[in-house]
Amino acid sequence: MSSIEQIRQEITTATCANAEELEAYRLKFISRKSVIGELFAKIKEIPGPEKKAYGQQINELKTLAQEKFKQLVSSLEKEEAGTEAPPVDLTLPSSKAQPGSMHPITITRNRIIEIFEKIGFNVSDGPEIEDDWHNFTALNFPPNHPAREMQDTFFIEKNPDIALRTHTSSVQIRVMETRQPPIRTLCPGRVFRNEAISARAHCIFHQVEGFYVNENVSFVDLKQTLFHFAKEMFGKDTKVRFRPSYFPFTEPSAEIDISCNICKGEGCNICKYTGWVEIAGSGMIDPNVLQNCHIDAEKYTGFAFGMGIERIAMLKWEIDDLRLFTENDIRFLDQFKAY
Ligand code: PHE
Repeated sequence: MSSIEQIRQEITTATCANAEELEAYRLKFISRKSVIGELFAKIKEIPGPEKKAYGQQINELKTLAQEKFKQLVSSLEKEEAGTEAPPVDLTLPSSKAQPGSMHPITITRNRIIEIFEKIGFNVSDGPEIEDDWHNFTALNFPPNHPAREMQDTFFIEKNPDIALRTHTSSVQIRVMETRQPPIRTLCPGRVFRNEAISARAHCIFHQVEGFYVNENVSFVDLKQTLFHFAKEMFGKDTKVRFRPSYFPFTEPSAEIDISCNICKGEGCNICKYTGWVEIAGSGMIDPNVLQNCHIDAEKYTGFAFGMGIERIAMLKWEIDDLRLFTENDIRFLDQFKAY
């Protein structure tokens, strides 16, 4: 009798949290080998007068166990229904796609092209691996002339006639060799110099060459063209200054400064407290260069300029380390999504 009471207690307090526990309950209280099954087996050992009362009790126990089992099954079903994935809510905002951004060098190059295209320049291309003629000799660098040392060149070891171009001026030669004036073109591209990588120098960088050859092209055209560019690129209040300089392929030559767009001329470390920053080299194409390309230097004149794309980008966005352009740091690149 005491064991019947104990089993009744166990059944009424039984709980189950998952299918395994439910099965354990079934084995213990419902199956043929359950504790209740054992009580039924014992019926023949019970003395005659008590048999009826005993039978009644274990039958009640069996019913209780079965009722409880039904309860446990249905409560478990309810619980499982609760953990099911909710139906898809089509009105929820979608998860955010991560769009890439254009590289600041590409953005700057495109902007430079856009500005010059509006005043009649088209775009030309040339190879990055050049021969001595296009990179130096045709540009009026005499053999063994110290001017060749102005740019530290990567030569191909087995053939000193072949080098990685040190400037996009080589494209000037290629275009002039194949076309007659009027020519007004822009040559953007990668250039290579044997320099140690630092915040201010890199062995691979980008230039845009521009030049115009026609009858009666003068220094005034050069000045006005670059003046226009500076204002479009850096804003209407930008001032432009031409400083006499030297390049073998231009005569006269000038370096072009713009008023520092960061401190507006007041002096900062970008302009080294001068109020001016250099953006390009330029000049009137040397008649020797025109002749080297079979263009009549008596009839035609031209101007040329070359600027560093990194330099323009650094001034535009106040970037103080050249290495950022090649490191592919997402935190840097992410900032150009708006362009
Ligand atoms: N090629 C020169 C350089 O790389 C720049 C330049 C281009 C100067 C055209 C004058 C005319 O420094």
